[in-house]
Amino acid sequence: MIDFSSLALPLLRLLPPERAHQATIAALRLGFGPRSSRGDDPILAQRLWGLDFPNPIGLAAGFDKNGEAMDAMLDIGFGFVEVGTVTPRPQSGNPKPRLFRLADDQAVINRLGFNSQGSAAVRARLARRWQAGNRRGVVGINVGRNRDSDDAALDYAEGLKALGGFADYAVMNISSPNTPGLRDLQERAHMADLIARVRAAREELESSGARAGGAPLPLLFKIAPDLSLAQLEGIAAAALEGRIDGLIVSNTTITRPHGLKSPDRDEVGGLSGAPLFALSTEILRIMFGLTAGKIPLIGVGGIQTGQDVYTKIRAGASLVQLYTALIYRGPGLVAALKAELAGCLRRDGFASVAAAVGADSH
Ligand code: FNR
Repeated sequence: MIDFSSLALPLLRLLPPERAHQATIAALRLGFGPRSSRGDDPILAQRLWGLDFPNPIGLAAGFDKNGEAMDAMLDIGFGFVEVGTVTPRPQSGNPKPRLFRLADDQAVINRLGFNSQGSAAVRARLARRWQAGNRRGVVGINVGRNRDSDDAALDYAEGLKALGGFADYAVMNISSPNTPGLRDLQERAHMADLIARVRAAREELESSGARAGGAPLPLLFKIAPDLSLAQLEGIAAAALEGRIDGLIVSNTTITRPHGLKSPDRDEVGGLSGAPLFALSTEILRIMFGLTAGKIPLIGVGGIQTGQDVYTKIRAGASLVQLYTALIYRGPGLVAALKAELAGCLRRDGFASVAAAVGADSH
């Protein structure tokens, strides 16, 4: 089959970044995405939260904000896909331009500010897929708050109730840098309150019968890489006390690591891609230590190679996600990462991904 995406990649780069993204989503919706034909190497399989992950490499939130390309992305070979961030009510986000390619740095800066079709539209897509028996692969939802909301916790609870019946796990995004005040939810007391509110929402969801059968919806929180040790300790304590199911480490950074070469490096927004790798992996490593391996972690930030995936796993990630590298390398990247990761595991004598999680801290 013709690999539409690898042919299209050089053309897409000629478009302004946001137009290129819209064109990609449109092509994927129409079924033009490439398909990974082979099943995954069994060494990559893992069962977590009662879910079967065929491989640990997921699509990070922000690529498929509205649930339009879930199956296409699973077909590319991702082990799981995260839809969102979704806000309860539709909103358009920040004024354009708000997405910048830093090609010389293999990085991106975005200040999209949660452009979202809203939970009703996304719910309809998720529900159709769930009910039509087309459910396959692992699909999570990532929820956030509307910019003009005056009760953030209510927005997360509403998002969870609207979408949680049709997803395998749910993420509270408390770390986007582009919604004023959002990152304050990472302070221990705020996070503890939010955990209580979303746990209550999950109970309502279960008792309403919206999640027929199965295990309770796993609740994860996604954090920033720009946190002090004291803040990380607060998050770890709130996470352990509140018995949340997982942490995603990390979102984009508002810092600008030294050495960025691209002209747009001083644009306001969150930086992702290669320059984020060291920082996000260090925060992951610290969080694995603080939570003593008791809470599964998803490592995100700057992954470009199978070795990068392996480094995150050894630092404490049970699963990983990526987004920015896909923009520069195209969909063939996913198969390459999986093959390289399997090679790293075998070379070092690990029988599974799970056996290598946190290996650097033992
Ligand atoms: C993102 N990211 C993101 N994260 C999130 O939780 N909700 C979102 O809506 C978005 N939106 C978004 C848009 C764009 C254009 C980018 C590049 C990123 C952050 C993303 O999920 C991930 O945490 C970071 O990008 C770091 O991973 P990579 O891109 O370095 O692999």
